[in-house]
Amino acid sequence: DSPETVSPTGVPTGAPKTSNAQSGRYLTTAQGARLRDTDHSLKAGPRGPVLLQDHHLREKITHFDHERIPERVVHARGAAAHGVFVANGAAEGITRAGFLARDAQTPVFVRFSTVLGSRGSADTVRDTRGFATKFYTDEGTFDLVGNNIPVFFIQDAIKFPDVIHAGKPHPDREIPQAQSAHDTFWDFVSLHTEAQHHTIWNMSDRGIPRSYRTMEGFGVHTFRVVNAKGETSLVKFHWKPRLGVHSLVWEEAQIINGMDPDYHRRDLADAIEAGAYPEWDLGVQVFPDTEDEMFEGIDLLDPTKIVPEELAPVQVIGTMTLNRNVTNFFAETEQVAFHPGHLVPGIDVTNDPLLQGRLFSYIDTQLTRLGGPNFAQIPINRPHAPVNDMLRDGFHQDAVHSGVAPYQPNSLDGGCPFLAGADMGAFIDVPAPVAKSRKVRENPATFDDHYSQPRQFFRSLTPVEQDHVIQAYTFELGKCYEENIKVRQLQALANIDERLCAEVAAGLGLPAPAPTLKVDDAEPSPALQQVGGTWPVD
Ligand code: HEM
Repeated sequence: DSPETVSPTGVPTGAPKTSNAQSGRYLTTAQGARLRDTDHSLKAGPRGPVLLQDHHLREKITHFDHERIPERVVHARGAAAHGVFVANGAAEGITRAGFLARDAQTPVFVRFSTVLGSRGSADTVRDTRGFATKFYTDEGTFDLVGNNIPVFFIQDAIKFPDVIHAGKPHPDREIPQAQSAHDTFWDFVSLHTEAQHHTIWNMSDRGIPRSYRTMEGFGVHTFRVVNAKGETSLVKFHWKPRLGVHSLVWEEAQIINGMDPDYHRRDLADAIEAGAYPEWDLGVQVFPDTEDEMFEGIDLLDPTKIVPEELAPVQVIGTMTLNRNVTNFFAETEQVAFHPGHLVPGIDVTNDPLLQGRLFSYIDTQLTRLGGPNFAQIPINRPHAPVNDMLRDGFHQDAVHSGVAPYQPNSLDGGCPFLAGADMGAFIDVPAPVAKSRKVRENPATFDDHYSQPRQFFRSLTPVEQDHVIQAYTFELGKCYEENIKVRQLQALANIDERLCAEVAAGLGLPAPAPTLKVDDAEPSPALQQVGGTWPVD
């Protein structure tokens, strides 16, 4: 056993307690009493009934009976690894976050995932991939909970239960297990046209990554950063894999699903074990923090939009290397709890309505998934910064809190110096102005354009990549039972690109509808070609 580190208040921090019962000298009960026999239950004679008094039998079976916890409601299937993030200092001018200062090194834990499949589903399905990073910084834990696709299906978190209900297996037959080929999925995205942009990325080669090691990652939302002078900027986070972006082709993906459903997790673990440590550069697109939170006509609060990289290039601010596999899948990969609200001084959220809802959702689901309010004390979730909170008691409380006065100010336990108002390097909410406005449920009009960016994306692809998109739509829609859903999705495709629509329609044996909107014929910009195509390898 390695010793646990315990902060002065009794909250465990840092290194987890490990145990290796399989190879220990003695096997014991959970209470530490040595066992003589773990293979036979206690009976009334060799052929007699088993005795209720057999404590070891009951303890062993009872614990086994409770080994499972609920899988994540989304992103249930994942694989993870430890590593280190080294900053190059390029972000020092825009954020005071200490872990982004030049040469700062920060331990990280990254979990990659599919979104819709269950914990036991296959790896190489067509789906979005999660790319969630926990930075254990000296100023507290920062979680960058992103995906491998830079936009999201919906613009408002209130639609999240709906899009997930549509994407998960049908409630009657519990099929399909993957994202592919649902009536409900296509019903949703054809009725909610803001989903068309994310969907065309899914239908492209980005939906079937070759490896977690060759995926980009995106924070998706715009975040607000603040520097030491209190000046703010808006940023979007990007992870760029040093190995370049690579995908499978659909036939490969299908064969691999059958032959090795663990392909992605095996690839990640094998590469790390072999010392081929995967690396990503972390970059930011930086925008001025203007009152309207727009950039070049793009609403920065709309998570269904990208900002083309020719308009705002990605500036590299550090590099992450994954160099250590997990020791125990359950303890680490399964119990890790990410949260977009885990922020550090220098990084704050914006009013993106999708992000705002996420700030509520993660902790709420983790209360159930991880059995109560103390999951921050689970080793993988423990901050590496000292913890001194006033959260007390509850299920699975590990800390032995000293003192009698868990409230501030108090005159019994000494109180905290921050009450004197000194700068303690604390998180300060950016005093961003909040519009004096009526309460409304409507979206701003700047959220209304659902087609120009999917169109730019499609037209930015090479002919081979475009063929893959056409084949993917044709295959997936071809699996729908309801013809009216196919027809409605073809209408959305007509508004994206007439040739795309015509070819998918021909593949489905249906007439191609005319666009209901004026389709812009402009050629894509070079930056959009980069965004849509393969990222160049250095
Ligand atoms: C889990 C990303 C939107 C609710 C996750 C995970 C990722 C992720 C990567 C897996 C975390 C892990 O590995 O443990 C995103 C991105 C989003 C998004 C990039 C949009 C840009 C939302 C929204 C909601 C939501 C809008 C709810 C309103 C959840 C929940 C989990 C989850 C409940 C499971 C968390 C757990 O059980 O620990 N998300 N998500 N997500 N997400 Fe999201």
